[in-house]
Amino acid sequence: MANLEELLRQRLAPAFEAVAGTQVDPALRRSQHAHFQSDAALALVRRLGGNPRDVAARVVEQADLADLCSDVQISGPGFINLTIADDVLGRLLAQVSADERLTVPRPERTEIVTVDYSAPNAAKEMHVGHLRSTIIGDAVVRLLEWQGHTVIRQNHIGEWGTPFGMLIEHLLDIGEAEAAQELSVGDLNGFYQAARRKFDADDTFKDRARSRVVQLQSGDPTTLRLWTTLVEESKKYFLTVYALLGVKLNADDFFGESFYNDQLQSVVDELDKLGLLRLSEGAKCVFPAGYTNRNGDPLPIIVQKRDGGFGYGATDLATIRRRLRDLHATRLLYVVGLPQAQHFEMVYQTARDAGWLALPARAEHVGHGSILGKDGKILRTRAGVSVKLVDLLQEAVVRAAAIIAEKNPDLDEATRAEVANAVGIGAVKYSDLATDRGKDYVFDYDRMLSFEGNTAPYLQYARARICSIFRKANVEPPRDLAEVVVAEPAERALALELLAFEGVLTQVAENLEFHRLAHYLYGLASTFTGFYEKCPVLKSEGPVRQSRLVLCDLTARTLALGLDLLGISAPDQM
Ligand code: ARG
Repeated sequence: MANLEELLRQRLAPAFEAVAGTQVDPALRRSQHAHFQSDAALALVRRLGGNPRDVAARVVEQADLADLCSDVQISGPGFINLTIADDVLGRLLAQVSADERLTVPRPERTEIVTVDYSAPNAAKEMHVGHLRSTIIGDAVVRLLEWQGHTVIRQNHIGEWGTPFGMLIEHLLDIGEAEAAQELSVGDLNGFYQAARRKFDADDTFKDRARSRVVQLQSGDPTTLRLWTTLVEESKKYFLTVYALLGVKLNADDFFGESFYNDQLQSVVDELDKLGLLRLSEGAKCVFPAGYTNRNGDPLPIIVQKRDGGFGYGATDLATIRRRLRDLHATRLLYVVGLPQAQHFEMVYQTARDAGWLALPARAEHVGHGSILGKDGKILRTRAGVSVKLVDLLQEAVVRAAAIIAEKNPDLDEATRAEVANAVGIGAVKYSDLATDRGKDYVFDYDRMLSFEGNTAPYLQYARARICSIFRKANVEPPRDLAEVVVAEPAERALALELLAFEGVLTQVAENLEFHRLAHYLYGLASTFTGFYEKCPVLKSEGPVRQSRLVLCDLTARTLALGLDLLGISAPDQM
């Protein structure tokens, strides 16, 4: 482990406890005044009284810091300022450099995690909400898998229910071959809207659609075959989007709504036995405690409709039961837009009431905001229909290719195409992940593809530049130094930044706030720029040169790993 904050915490916590007679979080923070600062003495005094400077002084006296810190000061009203010794930084950097995993430890307890994400609806274009879920979910999967957890991907596509009556009838009208053609080229919206238009305008079509739903639910073989065509063609289209995005989702990860059909009755029976079901206007409902509408009336999850049918709520009760009981997951993540927050809270509460969900297992809604167009409204094309995702992504790659061609005309064609793909797709993903996921953001090609600022191209380029240092000098990065020389302020700043990586990853694995990782990588790249301006690398000599090469190498590896965990590839040259 090379987590400085954690090392200091381990030294300060017992000292605080000795002084206070109770456990105290040293509340360490990076600081401008020293390397780290603790303001825990101030908080402690607010609780227990006394003079904060005295408390801080006593803690410092008790704490065993001599081998880590070159300077310990009490400042202001009672802050403890800690400066890490250069040789400690140097030794830790050497450890990190020698390790494949950059010394990031595996979690004490690895667990089974289910990640429900992407989840578009069959025979309907994926919308930008699904794009966000796909990008964020992929980052979740990558980070937790890299940590060592067993991650099970669940693509809960919507491919069951009443719309399929009208979709199947429309498919019959235009002919199966034509329908398959339309769907496989990704004209899902055209198909859906044509069906919808007929449904709204034509009463005989409406009747056909309704009886088709009944046939679908009763398992009529012809109807099921037609339904399968619709679903399979849609899946093919989704898979092309996933391939273009370079996300890990694949054909084995589809566990759509229909997958749960034969579990729904048993969900009803079980909830009934537990006494959790109540009849409301003929429908069987659960009313999880604490959820009411504006008038204060309890809100239901409808488990079985009056006509015997099941809906979205029932299916999600089945997802959570299966993930807990059959997949033995202890962390259940649902990466879905924020408008569904209450739905998931109610599902989780019901699962707790039913005794399915109990510690150590926990379920979390990993909610996200929307992607907006420049007009501030949810992103759509000019015609008002939602954007075709493939077009949106391809446009990013085309624009990236133009920029790369201009910046580096010497790249051969194949490399250029590869780089354009990494930059274009990376830019789309990064602009998403670098935003607090609870917030909306504006989709802006110019900004996301800029080589300045907190963008994917900036970080990719920062790393590629480091790669070129090694390439041009024709040296291998040294990875076996016993100690890295840290002497200049710019070296120290970079060392501290590099050593903060582990703490950031640990935190992000917990809160799944990827903008914190993005922000960290951006800070690292900027700090590196400062170092590279002030500290000559190839022109320096001996241990200093070797050490600076290590700093370069570690920066490049940290950037590459960080980007990779965000699902973004980092080309060696750009
Ligand atoms: N298909 C749904 C939609 O488009 C999202 C499904 C999310 N996952 C779930 N288990 N409910 O809104």
